[in-house]
Amino acid sequence: MNDYSEYLEEILISEDQLQERIGELGAQISRDYEGQDLLLICILRGGVLFLTDLMRELTVPHSIDFMAVSSYGVGARQSKGQVRITLDLTTSIGGRNVLLVEDIIDSGNTIASVLELLRLRRPKSLKVCTLLDKPERRESEIPIEYRGFEIPNKFVFGYGLDLDEYFRNLRFIGVLRKDKVAEFADAH
Ligand code: IMP
Ligand code: MG
Repeated sequence: MNDYSEYLEEILISEDQLQERIGELGAQISRDYEGQDLLLICILRGGVLFLTDLMRELTVPHSIDFMAVSSYGVGARQSKGQVRITLDLTTSIGGRNVLLVEDIIDSGNTIASVLELLRLRRPKSLKVCTLLDKPERRESEIPIEYRGFEIPNKFVFGYGLDLDEYFRNLRFIGVLRKDKVAEFADAH
């Protein structure tokens, strides 16, 4: 894999902008869940950086758990609708206030299936917190309680989001260069 700079069109959201907004979201979530039990669920792997930064902004006691679903595979950019749980939670969510922490909602199909599956387990409440929202490509309507940034319909990477599994470590969100899209996307 080449250096990330070879794929970068522009920085869409800087490290400072990310951290400032995550601070605001943390404060808002802390107010909303004050005095209540809270479980954050992160869908691996894209949401991991967001989760760990968001947690540190929360002033309310909370626990975390992880799940993984199959959506985009290497070399495919279009999610196909149905998802499969490839790693399930270890916590029982019945009767708990659950907040799903996601990196990006694009078509919305992934999160729609996850919400459907989790609802069957009867949580007390079930809400969605996403760092990025790409509304132009939405196919499934998703109620988003907490939204970091609305972004245009461009392929982005960094801060948890990958280019074929690389560059999740970057501290900013970058836009993939147009002349490189074909290399990574067969569906767009
Ligand atoms: P959805 O089912 O179309 O909403 O897909 C959501 C998932 O697709 C996200 O959790 C990401 O893993 C992936 N995804 C969607 N858009 C992008 C992007 O611009 N960059 C990297 N991954 C993306
Ligand atoms: Mg993801």
